This record gives sequence, structure tokens and C-alpha cells, in this order.
Amino acid sequence: MKSGRPTLLLGIETSCDETSAAVVQDGTTILSNVIASQAEIHKRFGGVVPEVASRRHVENITLTVEEALRQADKKLEDIAAIAVTHGPGLVGALLVGIAAAKAISFARGIPLIGVHHIAGHIYANRLITELSFPLIALVVSGGHTELVLMREHGSFEILGRTRDDAAGEAYDKVARALALPYPGGPQIDRLSREGMASIPLPRAWLEPGSYDFSFSGLKSAVLNTLHNAKQRGETIPPADLAASFQESVVEVLVEKTIRAATEYKAQQVLLAGGVAANQALRDQLAARCAKAELPLVIPPLCLCTDNAAMIAAAGHISYLRGKFASLDLNGVPGLPLSDL
Ligand code: KG4
Ligand code: ZN
Repeated sequence: MKSGRPTLLLGIETSCDETSAAVVQDGTTILSNVIASQAEIHKRFGGVVPEVASRRHVENITLTVEEALRQADKKLEDIAAIAVTHGPGLVGALLVGIAAAKAISFARGIPLIGVHHIAGHIYANRLITELSFPLIALVVSGGHTELVLMREHGSFEILGRTRDDAAGEAYDKVARALALPYPGGPQIDRLSREGMASIPLPRAWLEPGSYDFSFSGLKSAVLNTLHNAKQRGETIPPADLAASFQESVVEVLVEKTIRAATEYKAQQVLLAGGVAANQALRDQLAARCAKAELPLVIPPLCLCTDNAAMIAAAGHISYLRGKFASLDLNGVPGLPLSDL
């Protein structure tokens, strides 16, 4: 912000089943954050259908960008750069946002920035408060479970990641086994409140000191419990199974986050990604952070799930560092998290 005038970034996010565009000022203030969700469409298939997602993004993208500018009361002339998610995600879905961003960039001469989706989830927190370093971010979404150490803005060190299913994926699969609709995370969250965590399920701590996660064993244990009960002609209260599953997931996530925050003397703990909407995770992380006197930042629900404001917030760091993308920016489904 050399001129002292506010810097406005247009963010675009289409990595999965949300078409989103946002205008964010100086990486911190949301002027608009328009999200066209496709969840209703994918519900009847029990998960995101990539081709359907791409087609809906194509239908929605222009209107979504126009609406974001309209709600922010800004024109493309006011936009300093366009930040777009270029991975990870569904390649056909990513390409729609990238094509739109490149077209506007080329037509209007606006610089382009490629943003990693997880960097975006982490930077959703900067829309709430200033970040203090070093910090530990727990990123839990449908595709990711990562414990990230940030020593400064734009720097990401992955301390641990899932070795199999992502936390959200495990929620969705268990929900499906319980015949709950997609997306399953919020359904399990809700159902858990009506049950007791009375069914013993495993916790995958892995080797001593490891910050990695594993949820597939837990998922299999839930499926086995259901299967065995069925064979014995018994029924297990779904709410109790949901509560027991959730307790196992949350206990491991919270414990490893607190351990990492203590080891790296974190000034802040951030929660990020769609599963950050989970009430038990929010409550238990809050309780443990309070006990350890660790400041905890959790975005409001609307900034936990996929949205373009978080992409603009992360893109602002690249903007300040002059890290722009060229017009050959491509969608990379397995893009590794690298520094901004
Ligand atoms: O971050 P996100 O919107 O998309 C990805 O980048 O994956 O996360 C979506 C995931 C889904 O697996 C969904 O079931 C899960 O977040 N989720 C939840 C809750 N709300 C969304 N999981 C547990 N509890 C919730 N309340
Ligand atoms: Zn996401």
C-alpha cells in the first residue's frame, strides 16, 4: 500500500462445490463475499460430482463476480489484483475460476495472483484479527487435515498431515453409513448433541511425537460396529455412534494441536477449513486453549467453509511481495502448500 490508498483485491474460488467471488480491502476487510453453493444439487448424489460442479461453476461465475463488485460498490477499475484458487481441488472446477480470473486480468490489465486453497483457509483468520507469530493452524476440511506452523506471514511449515482420509471426509463417510444426507459433517455434529459417546472407538495417536493424523481406522471401526450390530439383530442408536465418532476425532485433533502450540511456543492457535464449523471441535479447542493461556482464533461459520474472501486475504500477502502469476496459470489438483 505504497500510495496510502486502500488496496482492493478481487478473490475467486471454485475449487470444489462453491462458486465464490469477493472484494477484500488490504487483506483484512471484507467489502463483499458472495457464495453460490451447489450443496443442494450434489446432495442427491451423496457427494460432489465433478462434471456437475464444473458446469454449475460455468453457469454461476460471471454473475457471482458481478454481484461481488456490486455489493462492494466497486468497479473493475478499482481492483488492484485478482487472487484465484489454483489448487488443490477438482481440476475442472478450478479451471472455471482460473479462466474467469485470467480473462478479466487480460482484458482489463489487472495483475493475477494464484492462491493455494489451504493458505486461503488459514488466512480466513486474518479477516477476524491480526495474526501473531509463531502460530499453529489446524486446517480441517473435506480434503485436508494439516497442522501448520507459521513463523511469519506467508510462510507455512507442515508439521503433520493425514495419512489417509481427511477429517471432513471421515465425517462424510460415517454420515453416509448412518444414512445421513451430504454433506455429512454438519449432520453428525447436530446428531451428536442428541447422543452419548458411549461406544468405544479407537484414537489413532500414531508413533509417539507424531503430528500426523489417520482417520480411516476409526471410520472402519464405525462401519464394523454397525455391521456387527446388524448381524446380531441389534440396533445402535445413531446419535450415540455419531457422538462416539466425533469424540474420537475431536480428541485427537485438539490434543495434537495443543501439543504443537506448546512445543513451538505459539502466540496464536488458528482453526481453519470446513470442519472448523464443528461445534464440539470449537468448544474443546477453546477450553484447552484457555487452560493453556493460548489465544485462539476461529472464523465465523461463513468464513470456515469455502469462500473467496479468504482467497483474497491470502492473495494480499503475495500482492505485497510482488508475487504475481502469468497468464499460463493452471489448475493443479494436488498443489503442495508453499510459501506466499
Ligand atoms: O473447507 P470445506 O468447505 O471444503 C473443502 O475444502 O473440503 O470443507 C467441507 C467439509 C465437508 O467434509 C463437511 O462435511 C465438513 O467440512 N463440515 C463439517 C461441519 N461443517 C462442514 N464437519 C464437521 N462438523 C461440521 N459442523
Ligand atoms: Zn476448503
